[in-house]
Amino acid sequence: MPLSHEYHANPFDRRGILPVMVLGEESIMVAIAILAAGKGTRMKSTLPKVVHTLGQKTLVERVLDTAQGLKPERQIVIVGYHADKVRQVLADRILADRSLEFVEQTKQLGTGHAAQQLLPALAGFTGDLIILNGDAPLIRPSTLEKLLKVHQENGNSATILTAQLTNPKGYGRVFSDEKGYLTEIIEDRDCTPEQRENRRVNAGIYCFRWPDLERALPKLTAENDQKEYYLTDAVNFLSPVMVMDVPDEAEITGINDRKQLADAYAMLQDRIKTEWLLKGVTIVDPASVTIDDTVTIAPNAIIEPQTHLRGTTTIGAGSRIGPGSLIENSTIGENTTILFSVVMDSTVNSGSTVGPYAHLRSAAVVGENCRIGNFVELKNSQIGSGTNAAHLTYLGDATLGTQVNIGAGTITVNYDGQAKHRTNIGDRTKIGANNSLVAPLTIGNDVTTAAGSTIVEHLPDDCLAIARARQVVKPNWKKS
Ligand code: UD1
Ligand code: CA
Repeated sequence: MPLSHEYHANPFDRRGILPVMVLGEESIMVAIAILAAGKGTRMKSTLPKVVHTLGQKTLVERVLDTAQGLKPERQIVIVGYHADKVRQVLADRILADRSLEFVEQTKQLGTGHAAQQLLPALAGFTGDLIILNGDAPLIRPSTLEKLLKVHQENGNSATILTAQLTNPKGYGRVFSDEKGYLTEIIEDRDCTPEQRENRRVNAGIYCFRWPDLERALPKLTAENDQKEYYLTDAVNFLSPVMVMDVPDEAEITGINDRKQLADAYAMLQDRIKTEWLLKGVTIVDPASVTIDDTVTIAPNAIIEPQTHLRGTTTIGAGSRIGPGSLIENSTIGENTTILFSVVMDSTVNSGSTVGPYAHLRSAAVVGENCRIGNFVELKNSQIGSGTNAAHLTYLGDATLGTQVNIGAGTITVNYDGQAKHRTNIGDRTKIGANNSLVAPLTIGNDVTTAAGSTIVEHLPDDCLAIARARQVVKPNWKKS
């Protein structure tokens, strides 16, 4: 069947007036409501379903994010089961966005009952209402925009987002005529075996003309297998109702159990990696790589196998990340190499190499053309350009100048058991192998320290410091 948006009903026939868009007047107001009151029994969880995370972000946040594209006048989240937990994950948004409203559904008697809770909140509202299931996080903003457009251009009373699924099990089946007008939605469990053959399903995403839905909601009954009030039954009291198929079935994936949560993660990953591949990023073995949708990668970067890019990470052009690296909330410059390493909340500037087996623990800033080598840990430290710490080193709370060389096995002794102290090292200084730099400590420019030194006092520019016991040799030791 062709997509419903190919049908344009007579614009005069529904509202008795031309759609306002045609008149060039103000467009119809849009409200969104997210159904997020359910328990999510099939998750077998102590948390409400919609606060489970999909790639670092909760389901309800993802749905809210997607709906922002519609620039809604009103945003209402219907909460119920563990409402406090849902509010908690949205706390930052409540502060940032005053238009976010909550409506409480104290008993979860079904999606229709949830929508009934909107009646007081939306009294007097005359625009369109988009209702989204809180457990369908993969919907694209462009699809919602298209749904609204089809709805408004055709003067529909309701427009239902649908998809033809290869495996429609568990979803409500949508029946429509050859013109794309809906006749009925029947839940999977209420279907006859014959009806179950229908592969067109309800996505749980709807656009309603609110005054129409407002009149329909009180008419719902709970005469079904679950004895619940179904929002899907509202369509029986509305006309015209159109269906709009979304071609990419992944978009409508509803998450009811943890298997579906994992499947949704795989779909999200596929979407993200495809996008970067097409933008010119090499991902050698996509199946072994995960990338959050908040990450940015420049073309010509190479993502090697077993690599995970998370949070607000950005990767510069020509950089080679992995194999075997985890980068989180970090900025990686151009032409860097990060091999078998963990980089968290840090910056690595262009031309530097990190690893194998380095750990940039937090707030590390590595300058240009540095080498941070095997088994080196950095924390809250700034490393100047051209500086190397190539082997077995811990630099914590340290500031290093340019072209410094840190000998193998050197550590900053930054913690005295009570407080952390800083180590400052000037430009071109060479710290010998296996030094302990006891902070607070300032070492000047062009300093050399001897191998095995324990440096406890500040060192002026251009000196050699030897701070170790002199070697004692006792000859003929066993014979005497
Ligand atoms: C629903 C649809 C089904 C559709 C599917 C798509 C109904 C009756 N069925 O089924 O046609 O194919 O979604 O994923 O709507 N919720 C509440 N209050 C309640 C019950 C549920 O807020 O009393 C919320 C849940 O938190 C969830 C959403 O509504 O976010 C959907 O509920 P769920 O029980 O998962 O519905 P499905 O059985 O999947
Ligand atoms: Ca569901």
